[in-house]
Amino acid sequence: MKIIFVGDIVGAGLDYLEMRLPELAAQHQPDFIIANAENLELSGAASFVVAGMSAASLARLWALGVDAVTGGNHSWDGAEGHAVHADLRVLRPLNYGTSAPGRGSTIIHKGGLRLGVVNLTSRDALPLADDPLAALDQQLDAWNDRTDAVLVDFHGASTEEKLTVAFASAGRISALVGTHTHVPTNDTHILPGGVAYVSDVGMTGRGGGILGYHPDKFVSAMRKRLYDDTPWRFAEGAVELGAVLITTAGRAAESIIRLT
Ligand SMILES: [Fe+2]
Ligand SMILES: [Fe+2]
Repeated sequence: MKIIFVGDIVGAGLDYLEMRLPELAAQHQPDFIIANAENLELSGAASFVVAGMSAASLARLWALGVDAVTGGNHSWDGAEGHAVHADLRVLRPLNYGTSAPGRGSTIIHKGGLRLGVVNLTSRDALPLADDPLAALDQQLDAWNDRTDAVLVDFHGASTEEKLTVAFASAGRISALVGTHTHVPTNDTHILPGGVAYVSDVGMTGRGGGILGYHPDKFVSAMRKRLYDDTPWRFAEGAVELGAVLITTAGRAAESIIRLT
């Protein structure tokens, strides 16, 4: 099985994917394409409403052949931040309670293959999150043998936490890919037990700023500390692609490489 996973798509990263993803898919023939979509939109001025997704931006991803999207701390941002979770292809962190809209896992059936996708988060991204490993264990127990492969998007900053969950799940999952920091890490490798791993896939959006956004907002917020009315805007550099290709043989992964 081949899976393309695209890291946090920020703003114009979506335009770029419309240009590049068809070519990458033709070249690599993935069975599944999964993307982290928590930063598709620029939704507002305050934290927790700054990013998020909309039905219109998600429709552009479905049109590209994306099978499901994952999220994180921005899963519920923006005017459509709750409504988008009516779509079963939209995942939000599994370990974020039951009252938050949406679901944290799904099994995608396609071409006779069954890919389980799980979205987890750490408390450094969402301070009220539950234990990610306990949530994953419970999900994998519930699925039993109903999947051929399992991909986990672990949304958070702690590489230690991501690796711990990946090691703990060896033999049960096929890949654990990190998102949230928007910074690509140089550690794509296969862990003992056949788990494809990368601490952070990196963002797909404009470089030359901070997390795909213009640095003005971050600098002024750090200087003022208190309420800051500097508007959020996207960075203005060249678009960076944060994406990996994972190949599995059965449940175990054989390779994980970065796409450029
Ligand atoms: Fe993000
Ligand atoms: Fe995030």
